[in-house]
Amino acid sequence: MDLLVTGGAGFIGSNFVDYILKHHRDYKVIVIDKLTYAGGLDNLAKVEDNPRFRFIQGDICDEKLDGELLSDCDLVVNFAAQTHVDRSIHSPADFVHTNIVGTHKLLEAARRGGKRFLQVSTDEVYGSKEEGSFTEDDPLNPSSPYAASKAAADLLVLAYHRTYGLPMSIIRCSNNYGPRQYPEKLIPLMIARALRGEKLPLYGDGTNRREWTYVEDCCRGIDLILHEGKDGQIYNLSSGVELTNLQIVRETLNLLGKGEELIEYVEDRPGHDRRYSLCCKKLTALGWEPRWNLQEGLEQTVRWYVENKEWWERRL
Ligand SMILES: NC(=O)c1ccc[n+]([C@@H]2O[C@H](COP(=O)([O-])OP(=O)(O)OC[C@H]3O[C@@H](n4cnc5c(N)ncnc54)[C@H](O)[C@@H]3O)[C@@H](O)[C@H]2O)c1
Repeated sequence: MDLLVTGGAGFIGSNFVDYILKHHRDYKVIVIDKLTYAGGLDNLAKVEDNPRFRFIQGDICDEKLDGELLSDCDLVVNFAAQTHVDRSIHSPADFVHTNIVGTHKLLEAARRGGKRFLQVSTDEVYGSKEEGSFTEDDPLNPSSPYAASKAAADLLVLAYHRTYGLPMSIIRCSNNYGPRQYPEKLIPLMIARALRGEKLPLYGDGTNRREWTYVEDCCRGIDLILHEGKDGQIYNLSSGVELTNLQIVRETLNLLGKGEELIEYVEDRPGHDRRYSLCCKKLTALGWEPRWNLQEGLEQTVRWYVENKEWWERRL
């Protein structure tokens, strides 16, 4: 199978490319990535010499390029996005452009080429849930411009399935963590600042709750959906490991041997969702379950940031 992977020089995309080339010895991967601040060729160092891998610097909003690249592939897995909620609050236009217009351009290219489409989405499209968990049938109720742009993209993908019969799946993931996550996101930001002896800014009172999935578990889930997912379906993907932001920061500090006095509570993010929680029965029915527990995943992550200081220092 030949895959076009968009946003493959970013965090989850680059881990997914490693995963696919390692576990499917006859698959080829083309990555298209604009190399925004969040993407880096160093994220693809493990595969750059692999003859089954090709990298193209480009923008998913370039429909002609999307079409050319897809003509050599069986399907597209769309990771490319603007992904940081805080940035979406300050410059929502970038999010509308890449996450909605970009997804639309890719959909057009896939429709014309008759290719399958896998959209990587987020738990944030459902909005906040005080109790219980969201199923795939729940309505979308996004809070931030980021979440709204991802929700709009999901709706476009579904519309292309219903209107044009485009074969597709949508994967809605919870918070991921692991190596190569840009140090603006909670866990790597806290690790980087703690290692520099700087204060750790924590929104509000730190009691917002998130589910945390180790990135390799997420990649394995996407791989499973690629092979076993039913056409036209949405799949939630989460480990079910739920912690407050304060708890995850405490766990991280413990592993670094640093104290809680580094934490500094700062004014809450506007529109900050209290809690995300996903019901993943559809995915577990396909045979997926997380293999990494929080302790192992967090240890692996902290070790990677400690050993790759120059990677994150370049990005701060
Ligand atoms: N990280 C998470 O916790 C998480 C959780 C749920 C869903 N997701 C989704 O997974 C996907 C990947 O997230 P991530 O954390 O790896 O993001 P990331 O920010 O680390 O990487 C995004 C990548 O997309 C590229 N990109 C941005 N705009 C582009 C464009 N116009 N054309 C081509 N490439 C472009 C960037 O250069 C970067 O390499 C996103 O769609 C995100 O919404 C992420």
